[in-house]
Amino acid sequence: MCGIIGYAGHRDAGTVMMAGLKRMEYRGYDSAGLAVVGDRLEVRKAAGKLANLERQLQTHPIGEAHLGIGHTRWATHGGPTDANAHPHLGPAGRVALVHNGIIENADALRAELAGAEFRSETDSEVAAHLLERAVVGGRTLVEAMREVVARLEGTFTLVAIDANTPGTVVAARRNSPLVIGVGDGERFLASDVASFIEYTREAVELGQDQIVEITATTHTVTGFDGTPGTTRAYHIDWDLAAAEKGGYDWFMRKEIFEQPKAVADTLLGRITARGELALDETRIDPAQLRLVDKIVVVACGTAYHAGLIAKYAIEHWTRLPVEVEIASEFRYRDPVITPTTLVVTISQSGETADTLMATRHAREQHAKVISICNTNGATIPRESDAVIYTHAGPEIGVASTKGFTTQLIACYLLGLYLAQVRGTKFGDEIAELVEELEALPAKMQAVLDDLGLTLTLARDLLREPVYLFLGRHVGYPVALEGALKLKEIAYVHAEGFAAGELKHGPIALVENRLPVFIVVPPRGRDQLHDKVVSNIQEVRARGARTIVLAEAGDDEAAAFADTYLPLPSVPTLFQPVLAILPLQVFACEVASQKGYDVDQPRNLAKSVTVE
Ligand code: G6P
Repeated sequence: MCGIIGYAGHRDAGTVMMAGLKRMEYRGYDSAGLAVVGDRLEVRKAAGKLANLERQLQTHPIGEAHLGIGHTRWATHGGPTDANAHPHLGPAGRVALVHNGIIENADALRAELAGAEFRSETDSEVAAHLLERAVVGGRTLVEAMREVVARLEGTFTLVAIDANTPGTVVAARRNSPLVIGVGDGERFLASDVASFIEYTREAVELGQDQIVEITATTHTVTGFDGTPGTTRAYHIDWDLAAAEKGGYDWFMRKEIFEQPKAVADTLLGRITARGELALDETRIDPAQLRLVDKIVVVACGTAYHAGLIAKYAIEHWTRLPVEVEIASEFRYRDPVITPTTLVVTISQSGETADTLMATRHAREQHAKVISICNTNGATIPRESDAVIYTHAGPEIGVASTKGFTTQLIACYLLGLYLAQVRGTKFGDEIAELVEELEALPAKMQAVLDDLGLTLTLARDLLREPVYLFLGRHVGYPVALEGALKLKEIAYVHAEGFAAGELKHGPIALVENRLPVFIVVPPRGRDQLHDKVVSNIQEVRARGARTIVLAEAGDDEAAAFADTYLPLPSVPTLFQPVLAILPLQVFACEVASQKGYDVDQPRNLAKSVTVE
């Protein structure tokens, strides 16, 4: 939520800012702005998407500068207007500041600054005023930042420049992400490495409650208390091409098609020469994992749906009870967590505020936390006892796709690893399942190579206002996820239901021609399969248009399908990895045909860093 950037170096700061903001626009697109210090401090900002700021820069170009900050906003305090767009200035226009997060005591601080004239309704402007006061009072920008953050409550990552300190950008990080990019004669600060990937692939992770000062050739990190800060440098293992659309109309579509590779990459290197699973980022002693008596999976949005599927697999393989909870509910429910509970947090970005708070809460209760995450060095994995990284590469489309399927793979790996460590599955059983996992990328590719029917269907059903999705067992979370994709990007009413619940309410919604997607489990699970086939008949008898996703050759299911989307054969627990693909493509195509912005759906942001 909100993307922020800072730059000190030899390039034109305005150009660097705009390129960086473009790659971070998925984080928020209510407004955008930048400030540079060349001969003087100059600011440009505009409500709406980045294109508006681009237009403003054409009519009102900024001067040449080699130092700047920028911001792309997802509005929290104050509507998406020009005035509320960042950067915000101090009263004399000497300091410019961008902010990601929420300053909870902004009202109290504003009251203290009696007489000051505020130009926006934002909480952030208060920080700009405080910072400017401190530098005018003789503090260096770093000292001023230290003084200001001590007064702020809430979540805030701030990046600031001072017209009288050319050559230096200073930032403070609490909760929201911030990474340093280390180039040759240039330094970057950004919420996401994607924003500087075209200039450097060397990054330094900032810790919680740290202040950093960058110049073109240095970066100096200290704690909020002024003590030297520890950081971790790393190399980014993907490049500019991964952060670009590569010929696709949308990032989302590109990311859908990247899934076979993303899944293969996530599986890579997890199996030892002896055929055992080795999750090398799992820094929890196997002896401790043997003591675990309950698993709680916590996540938001699509990651929560991955967690729901994980429950079926992990319970089946380990015989441990698994609870799955939405992070925002978990945190405020006083959940029963003990030192023998294993908490698994799932987050593509690793920055979702609710999931982060849940992670902290679990650790306070002395539970061990394993996070499943796609972003190297993000806050959630940093604060967890162990992490399983999904190697999906950058996910930029706001609606998660490859994030989801790779999270599923990580959950399967974790379940099998626990089964191995706890001895609830024999080695050969695990090996067989691992083989099935390794066969998934090719089967995913087969689904993606045969999407003609799904695309035609999307065009045929374009004008439908309501869609239902049904599934049982692991097909149920797939139904939820299929519905979520449509809601997120096509702005239609779509609901997922457990097929068994149909007769307890949802069937009353079925009307003539209502499109109903049904995920049918493979035939190996006879009872389960037959029950779902009955459910198809029930909705069809009431006039629904049935779109059936079932194993290839499943004539029983196909017999009741208006549209039959065949899937390659896989074990039931792995079917979600395939079944979700046509549903993602369907949503993408419906939204695309309706002329909506698939990558930046209204009101949403990729990474929700406020509670
Ligand atoms: C936002 C995104 C969703 C995502 C959810 C959780 O709502 O729009 O696509 O599933 O956050 O994000 P995370 O990064 O924690 O997986």
